[in-house]
Amino acid sequence: MRKSGPFLAFFGAVTALCLLAMRLWTQPIIEAGGLPMLDLRMAGYSPDEVRFFIANITEAGRAAYLGPQRVLDTIMPIALTAALGLLIYRMIRRWSWQIGAVLALVPLVYFTFDMLENAQVAAILRARAVSDTMAEAASRFTVAKAEALRAAVALALLALAVRAAELALGRRNRKSGRAMSFTVAIDGPAAAGKGTVSKAVAAHFGFAHLDTGLLYRAVGRKVILGADPVEAARGLTAEDLDATGLRTPEVAQAASRVATGPEVRAALVDFQRAFAARAGGAVLDGRDIGTVICPEAPAKLFVTASPEVRAERRYLELIGRGHEVARAEVLDDVKSRDERDSARATAPLKPAEDAVVIDTSQMSIDEAVAAAIGAINARR
Ligand code: CDP
Repeated sequence: MRKSGPFLAFFGAVTALCLLAMRLWTQPIIEAGGLPMLDLRMAGYSPDEVRFFIANITEAGRAAYLGPQRVLDTIMPIALTAALGLLIYRMIRRWSWQIGAVLALVPLVYFTFDMLENAQVAAILRARAVSDTMAEAASRFTVAKAEALRAAVALALLALAVRAAELALGRRNRKSGRAMSFTVAIDGPAAAGKGTVSKAVAAHFGFAHLDTGLLYRAVGRKVILGADPVEAARGLTAEDLDATGLRTPEVAQAASRVATGPEVRAALVDFQRAFAARAGGAVLDGRDIGTVICPEAPAKLFVTASPEVRAERRYLELIGRGHEVARAEVLDDVKSRDERDSARATAPLKPAEDAVVIDTSQMSIDEAVAAAIGAINARR
């Protein structure tokens, strides 16, 4: 369900195309005066106008209309129903079930009216004995839409049941005293302040924190000392993460180079996922936490800032630690790593589809932390 966005877009596009095709197909026939529009809402005609059309129908118009109309009237309810089911589930899972329920009502009401209007047209056609074929068609559309309505209601109920079960399970786990895992994924470009925000967030919620950049920096450092990148990643130890010099621009560059290797990345996945799943909650910051390592994380943030602001912050941090660096050198490092991190084929740097983007260019540390905590609370 995490990937329901593309499906929704797909079904939305199918529905829009169906509507467009229907318009294009039926417009010339309407203009020729030969078509009674069965679907009043779709065409926007009043019952009186439909009666007028019915009185003026031609055989050719009827035949040209019924074939495509029947196909479209089958595809559209299916597309709408599928989109609706996904939408409802996504709403109640990601946002709130109340909003989901209200939004779900809109298409359900639409289906209901649509169906009633079809029934009304069928009744008019029958009463006037204008055309048995048309009356039959209108009845069929009524049945098709009733089926769609039933399916939509069933989907909505199923989505609500799934969510209720999830919530009940969570409550039981809490009651039984079993600490729940809760993962906060924080991604963003170089020196965006992820580390500061992540530490503050972890302290606020009492979660453990893992700076995943440190893993790549530790591998990068070993590679500078002559190790093979994949071997270094596979044999990483806790002491490697405590080594001195991991924060220098040279090691950062080496880290970003080894981080392009799929095998290096693969060697570090299990450790990161195990950390993310620990009881009591975890905050992980890096480049691919929300997209690759923990795509199911309930809270995802993408912390960013302009390259100049980030370079200045990193420059002050390095100077503060006693490193001798030039401003331009730091800006170069930030920009070149951004480029490499975003362009690589494996796990490129990008916000997850459902990440909350926090641009800290104009924010103080406190403001950035408050924004992050607010976004996480909204997902809890
Ligand atoms: O602190 P800063 O944002 O400058 O960098 P970092 O988080 O320590 O990461 C150093 C390098 O490791 C990055 O430039 C990335 O190339 C790589 N990295 C990654 O590929 N995936 C992660 N989850 C974390 C870091």
